[in-house]
Amino acid sequence: MSGTDTRIPQTSEAVTVLLCGPAQRLRVWAQALGEDGRFQVVSLASTPDDFAAKLSIQPEAVLVDASIFTPQTLIKTMRRVSGVAYVVLPPLRGDALDKARRSLEAIEQVRDVYTVDVNLAVLKERMVGDVRMARQTNIGDAGAWDAPLANTIYRPVSTQVFTVWNLVGGTGKTTTSTSLAREIARRGYKTLLISLGAPDDLALIAGLSAEPNILHWMANPSPEGLKLALQNIDTLDVLAGFPDAFSGVASLDAPPEAPGSVRNLVETAMHMQYAVIILDTMPTERGFPAIMSSNGLILVGTPTLSGVWRTAEAYRTVQERLAGMHRISPERIFVVLNGIAGNEGQLSVGEWHRMASRHVGGSFPPIVAQVPYDAEVRRAHNARRLPDSERYLAGLVPLADAIAGSDMTPKNGRKRGLLRIFGGERS
Ligand SMILES: Nc1ncnc2c1ncn2[C@@H]1O[C@H](COP(=O)(O)OP(=O)(O)OP(=O)(O)O)[C@@H](O)[C@H]1O
Ligand SMILES: [Mg+2]
Repeated sequence: MSGTDTRIPQTSEAVTVLLCGPAQRLRVWAQALGEDGRFQVVSLASTPDDFAAKLSIQPEAVLVDASIFTPQTLIKTMRRVSGVAYVVLPPLRGDALDKARRSLEAIEQVRDVYTVDVNLAVLKERMVGDVRMARQTNIGDAGAWDAPLANTIYRPVSTQVFTVWNLVGGTGKTTTSTSLAREIARRGYKTLLISLGAPDDLALIAGLSAEPNILHWMANPSPEGLKLALQNIDTLDVLAGFPDAFSGVASLDAPPEAPGSVRNLVETAMHMQYAVIILDTMPTERGFPAIMSSNGLILVGTPTLSGVWRTAEAYRTVQERLAGMHRISPERIFVVLNGIAGNEGQLSVGEWHRMASRHVGGSFPPIVAQVPYDAEVRRAHNARRLPDSERYLAGLVPLADAIAGSDMTPKNGRKRGLLRIFGGERS
């Protein structure tokens, strides 16, 4: 480099980073990190061989655009990284994407895997945090008896992010989202419920205020902004939805890389170490930004013919139309049948599932929860409180168990963040 260097002076604290990917991508990344004194970009690599050679510099962090690798070379090379690694995958179809994610997430150094693009503002915070922790661990390993094993606490774990969706209104999405989120929070998991309703009725039925809401976060799209925009139901954090249909539509159309996008909202919340995030959506394509930012999906359907058909269509939309655009693996799709009334001419659960499978022309995810129709739910909503009928809540327990294992009830009333949830995942 020649001439006067006008960049912010780097301290010995700066995180050393090696960037790898196609030239275009490198330019953007190098500029974003180069302008930030917390990082020192030690080198750039635009071919797999170049990258492998430059790993000998032992950068503390590597950021890799995987599109220049073959899948096999990528995995082999990432195992050789000594620092923390972040990988951006190219757009892949559902199965290939899942496979690539799983292989990468099994590598200890890989802290996060993104698809197509990455929010650099969020990633930078993450990198600084991860490298700081790694530095402490290295010191701990050398000198302290009680230092926990590095791979026990710094294992890459991720927040469970569920979108609750369907292609038909009024099936009980908001009811299910709220009661489920409250149950998971009760079990001690740090949980965030986000309403993307426009106009929002979640705050209304849950007895919360219309403000602050998601627009407050959008005006200040940072972790601090999110904290200020939250309301609470006991230990559950809630972000109320849009005050009107217009603001919702305008905001949900924002591109994923925009600061106030749903993607950025979810990434900000993940950064705040929520163990579970639940997004309640509208029953249209307005749910897509949420789906594309989630790693799980909850389809709430009703036990009628049109209920099967719409739910099966919703499943097909996610699996086929949106393939490669989200990170939801098939085993993270949960189906809930809501409003089961027993003998009132509804489809049986078996019939419902057979019809859904036939409609999608293959296997349909199992029905995780069968939730009864309960007049108390409506009474509670009309009184602006959440239903606490045991009959209703018992129906949701299998779903809560699938997300936040029933054996994880905390003894000390403290919230469980990301690091504690690991053993509680569904097998
Ligand atoms: N299990 C149930 N038993 C009785 N009533 C229920 C049950 N689940 C939901 N309801 C009622 O059905 C109505 C619709 O529920 P909810 O608002 O949760 O649906 P939604 O899918 O979120 O609707 P939208 O598509 O408009 O967002 C509400 O009046 C709610 O109280
Ligand atoms: Mg709703």
